Amino acid sequence: MTNTLLILPGDGIGPEVMAEVSRIIDWFGDKRGLKFDVSEDLVGGAAYDVHGVPLADATMARAQEVDAVLLGAVGGPKYDNLDFSVKPERGLLRLRKEMDLFANLRPAQCFDALADFSSLKRDVVAGLDIMIVRELTSGIYFGEPRGIFEENGERVGINTQRYTESEIDRVARSAFELARKRGNKVCSMEKANVMESGILWREVVQRVHDADYPDVELSHMYADAGGMQLCRWPKQFDVIVTDNLFGDLLSDVAAMLTGSLGMLPSASLGAPMANGRPKALYEPVHGSAPDIAGQGKANPIACILSFAMALRYSFDQGEEATRLEQAVEKVLADGVRTADLMQSEGTTPASTAQMGDAILAA
Ligand code: NAI
Ligand code: MG
Repeated sequence: MTNTLLILPGDGIGPEVMAEVSRIIDWFGDKRGLKFDVSEDLVGGAAYDVHGVPLADATMARAQEVDAVLLGAVGGPKYDNLDFSVKPERGLLRLRKEMDLFANLRPAQCFDALADFSSLKRDVVAGLDIMIVRELTSGIYFGEPRGIFEENGERVGINTQRYTESEIDRVARSAFELARKRGNKVCSMEKANVMESGILWREVVQRVHDADYPDVELSHMYADAGGMQLCRWPKQFDVIVTDNLFGDLLSDVAAMLTGSLGMLPSASLGAPMANGRPKALYEPVHGSAPDIAGQGKANPIACILSFAMALRYSFDQGEEATRLEQAVEKVLADGVRTADLMQSEGTTPASTAQMGDAILAA
């Protein structure tokens, strides 16, 4: 099977961090015989400058064909006053919508060398490696009715939490598939004690498990208790699967157990394609960081770890993904630090390219 990859560097620090990923992709081809058929294109403000839209139709079509899309970041002050319909973010939203990326994966990983900088105690977070799977295309952010209405002489704001069985079924499957490539454990979070959608969620997740994933260990937890447990003892979890709203909150909480925005990767997955691989978009959690763009200061690790996720979840190269993650781990242990990571005695300041150099050497 060929490995096709579409790279969309985007705006601001996007191209700077993506340049380091490109060197790593080349390294895998040269040193590990792992070849990628890479194409590169424009997204966000960069696409607007050339095409007048933040994502050209041809780019969209290519994104639908490839095994994985890797995106840097979009946006910046230059584009802040554009019409909403052509804002850089719309390019990203179009990708997510048209590829129907319903499962958003946010890992929370804590490298030992950075554990002292967490707001939690070292032994609570050191070595942490959990994955939150958030349903991304349904739930209360989309359900109807919604709006602000007049009722009995005052206004009422309404949103509707709504999940169909098939929406729950498919995101549960994504979580179980991921768990099999990790620690083989899923915890599903909802509020079945007070929400109808929570009752259905729990029932469908259990049914999918019993029918097709009985080998994966499954537990259920109320989402509020889940929030407490994430801060008390996060290492009890492997994969957490939850709805759009709870996942939004819980993934931000989990991310902050582990440190800088410059370290956080993410993935969004859709339905399996003809070759069995899921539609997939990988991107760092951070934005285009206009305040440091063009200065060689950006931390490329979030983007590099996003590529590691692509290796594991799109290309079935779990061992190579681990190899890359271990190189990142070693470099951090050696004290190499971009400016966003706390410096202390014994650490060495590094530019974006120097961080890339160090990871390649490791
Ligand atoms: P941001 O994530 O770009 O930056 C927040 C802060 O974190 C800044 O101080 C920045 O310098 C720092 N930072 C972010 N990534 C870093 C990295 N890799 N290394 C070192 N430091 C890093 O968020 P902000 O400032 O709210 O938004 C800036 C622009 O990015 C806006 O146009 C926004 O719309 C866009 N944005 C795009 C996203 C995307 O493409 N997915 C996500 C979030 C924001
Ligand atoms: Mg959020």
